[in-house]
Amino acid sequence: MSLTPSKRAYVPFVSVEHMMGLVHHIGIEQVLTDLASEIEADFRRWPLFDKTPRVASHSDVGVIELMPTSDGETYGFKYVNGHPKNTAEGLQTVTAFGLLAEVESGYPTLLSEMTLLTALRTASTSAMAAKHLAPKGARTMAMIGNGAQSEFQCLAFKAICGINTVRLYDIDASATKRCARNLAAQGLTVVECRSGQEAMEGAQIITTCTADKQYATILTDNMVGSGVHINAIGGDCPGKTELHRDILLRSSIFVEYPPQTRVEGEIQQLEHDHAVTELWKVIEGQVSGRTDDRQITLFDSVGFAIEDFSALRYIAKAVKGTPFFTQLDMIADPDDPRDLFGMLQRAKP
Ligand SMILES: NC(=O)c1ccc[n+]([C@@H]2O[C@H](COP(=O)([O-])OP(=O)(O)OC[C@H]3O[C@@H](n4cnc5c(N)ncnc54)[C@H](O)[C@@H]3O)[C@@H](O)[C@H]2O)c1
Repeated sequence: MSLTPSKRAYVPFVSVEHMMGLVHHIGIEQVLTDLASEIEADFRRWPLFDKTPRVASHSDVGVIELMPTSDGETYGFKYVNGHPKNTAEGLQTVTAFGLLAEVESGYPTLLSEMTLLTALRTASTSAMAAKHLAPKGARTMAMIGNGAQSEFQCLAFKAICGINTVRLYDIDASATKRCARNLAAQGLTVVECRSGQEAMEGAQIITTCTADKQYATILTDNMVGSGVHINAIGGDCPGKTELHRDILLRSSIFVEYPPQTRVEGEIQQLEHDHAVTELWKVIEGQVSGRTDDRQITLFDSVGFAIEDFSALRYIAKAVKGTPFFTQLDMIADPDDPRDLFGMLQRAKP
């Protein structure tokens, strides 16, 4: 019997280096647009997915979460953390990796880095939601919170919604400077602002993407005029929100998966039965999104497992026939399936 791992032992693995190579090979705006299409297509078949609120393990300083789902043929999960204090220690707030497996055999079919992929998929989901909810002809976005996710958000709104101007604000001016520098050659007009209020000027879309492990008020009621679309990304844990409650009461609220969002999203500030609309129903045409020019639409995004599933499936297809993956000897797969021990013994030096 051979000591060489069987074909089924190998799982394609997309490292951070490969992900960066792949994104540049395809082009970042193309990746963001492709991901939005994949996610939108999966939102259209929402009812057939296995859905559960993500499994969260909280500590005083952050959260570690597992996000599983399945469409009956393919199973996927993401491991992701959120540690707002990390950046002060030279670490990232959010890191992630994920896996796909065959439902038929349970064998994994892809393992991938997902720190970059999460930033890409979150931006694509936001822009895809805005395509359905934001005022038509929106060209200016306020971007509050200029951390790791922010450039991805700006580029997705450019590629998918036609945004041409972003107005940046962060409590840390150096974050705004970095974001502006990174966006300088990306075909956007970039305006650095000194307050959230200033960032709001002329914006038809407002994205909040801050990190703080507590109730924060990034937007107060007086900052939000009628007719805007709010893309609220950063409030995604119990006790971690960004918008003043009064804004929620004036808004039409759209969510991913209510059982998760009611615990983690902005709407944790409202009664548990406050009316919200599931985004997939708007995409499917079952209910309307924006119905008038003065309406405030709010996408209360927390990030749902199906978005990661779509992103992983996209990567699985995209890396085929490219050098942007390696084969990982990950599954012990003995020739005789019951002789796991024998396989171990034969490897004895
Ligand atoms: N909804 C989703 O699907 C999703 C996905 C990924 C990340 N997130 C969340 O998005 C948030 C941002 O993630 P990141 O990776 O960019 O984090 P990050 O730590 O890199 O950046 C956060 C930025 O927010 C700024 N900030 C904090 N308080 C602020 C305030 N009061 N006003 C203005 N700016 C403020 C910080 O200075 C920092 O630059 C996190 O809370 C994360 O959990 C959500």
